[in-house]
Amino acid sequence: MRILITAGPTREYIDDVRYLSNASSGRMGYAVAQAALDAGHQVVLVTGPVDLIPPTGCDVRHVVTTAQMRDAAVSAFPNCDGVIAAAAVCDYTPLKRHSGKMTKTGGPISIELIETDDVLAQLGRDREHHWVVGFALEAENARENALQKLRAKNCDVVVLNSPQAIGADTNDVQLLGAAGETLAHWHGLKADIATELVRWIGQNLPLSGNR
Ligand code: CTP
Repeated sequence: MRILITAGPTREYIDDVRYLSNASSGRMGYAVAQAALDAGHQVVLVTGPVDLIPPTGCDVRHVVTTAQMRDAAVSAFPNCDGVIAAAAVCDYTPLKRHSGKMTKTGGPISIELIETDDVLAQLGRDREHHWVVGFALEAENARENALQKLRAKNCDVVVLNSPQAIGADTNDVQLLGAAGETLAHWHGLKADIATELVRWIGQNLPLSGNR
């Protein structure tokens, strides 16, 4: 199969030197990319800025902002069988990006934020015979929220994990299906979870026939 993987954080710039982002290391997405290559799949890796070297053999698309991630993912998707959306995408962007560097005012300031596009939701809307695997990072009402995302973004399955996963080597995830069922529960090294996830997809989600 040819698999699109999104990984890492995105950044949204306030001015030319300051940005909003999150603590995602990209380790889960990169581990999934490595596991997919090891299983003999082709990988298009759309990655935000991280301190990791992409696994050898990936077709890598480096992006910074959510809009760039959306554009790169949307353009790669038609030639892939499915997507695994492991990126920790920045959900808000400043309404206005200041040019240069904002100077201090001596008092509080406000920055108006608007929502970014949802990369996975767009892929879910555009899917034809593709399979779609989302991630859900949930602090509370985890299962309910993850299933709500699965439906809203038109995913086949969602990988539910918690904020402890951010920046860590290990993870504890549940794979949830559209009917709300738990299809698998994996914990341990992200590399081992990635191997299990890729194996599960290979056995349960079909080739798209799009290529
Ligand atoms: N996602 C995305 N584009 C966004 C936001 C999220 O592609 N703008 C994807 C993530 O890569 C993940 C899934 O959507 O596969 C869920 O991401 P998550 O951060 O858990 O949830 P959000 O949809 O951002 O909602 P919230 O932050 O309110 O929980």
